[in-house]
Amino acid sequence: MTGQASDSTTGQASDSTTGHATDSTTGAVTVRVPAKVNVQLAVGAARPDGFHDLANVFLAVSLYDEVTATPAAGTKVTCEGPDADQVPLDRTNLAARAAGILAERAGLTPDVHLHIAKNIPVAGGMAGGSADGAAALVACDALWGLDTPMAELLDICAELGSDVPFSLVGGAALGTGRGEILTPVPAGAFHWVFAVADGGLSTPAVFREFDRLAAGHEIPAPQASPALLAALASGDPDALAPTLVNDLQPAALSLRPQLASVLAAGTAAGALAALVSGSGPTTAFLARDRAAAAGVAAVLDASGLCRATRVASSPAPGATLL
Ligand code: C5P
Repeated sequence: MTGQASDSTTGQASDSTTGHATDSTTGAVTVRVPAKVNVQLAVGAARPDGFHDLANVFLAVSLYDEVTATPAAGTKVTCEGPDADQVPLDRTNLAARAAGILAERAGLTPDVHLHIAKNIPVAGGMAGGSADGAAALVACDALWGLDTPMAELLDICAELGSDVPFSLVGGAALGTGRGEILTPVPAGAFHWVFAVADGGLSTPAVFREFDRLAAGHEIPAPQASPALLAALASGDPDALAPTLVNDLQPAALSLRPQLASVLAAGTAAGALAALVSGSGPTTAFLARDRAAAAGVAAVLDASGLCRATRVASSPAPGATLL
């Protein structure tokens, strides 16, 4: 799902030299936005508002959705891609909600068609829905010529969901609070394999399972790991591998026990580390280099233990106007 397909109804075409979506007749704009993996997801006890305080080290990876915004009467969302049938196209879609909030703040009506070219696994723990929300926000801001300040865009993102601010900024960042308060952190380049599972997992359900498993235990306040941050900055995969940690992994494995075999198969295939991505059920494998990642992906593909694999690198830029 790379590049922009020509579309005879909108007259939109891609300029393969510059990568700019060009459309002189409709003014459609396209935004590319990355998936994320959490290299550290430290989870605290449930807060009175139901959320959990986190120390959440986000890393954007080179798996992208693209959202194209075109003028329309009312708000309309369409989606293409392998999992398009699992994406809600109603007002619950974060892209539609982003357009609605931005329009309301600007005193406009959200008259926009948002088309999502979906490549990020749906309900997979890789912030695919959050990515589309951030991308739609940037696309509508450009389409409507608003030039909204970054601080206000981040504010709208936090209203949309805990992971949405990171989808906007990309790169590598520590998320605190419920994950929405971001501090950029330095990160070298790393190579990853993602194993896409059949069906998604509900993030609230995984947090509920975390609470169930944690009942009766003392839950320490979540803290970023200095060793992990140093390894991330160094770009050394052998240093990063032993520091990767996801406190939601036991909950995701409890709800989806078969993920344990995927993790084991990736490690046996030479991955330096394996973990559940966010709330899952996508699993993430750190590889020494691009060739090693391709090797791990080939073994996982042949294993029949997952639906598909994706190879990606990090860090990747946040939501970007093409
Ligand atoms: O913020 P977002 O809408 O993406 O969160 C979805 C759900 O995940 C929340 O309603 C909550 O159940 C859970 N969650 C949480 N603590 C967080 C982030 C999300 O409990 N820090």
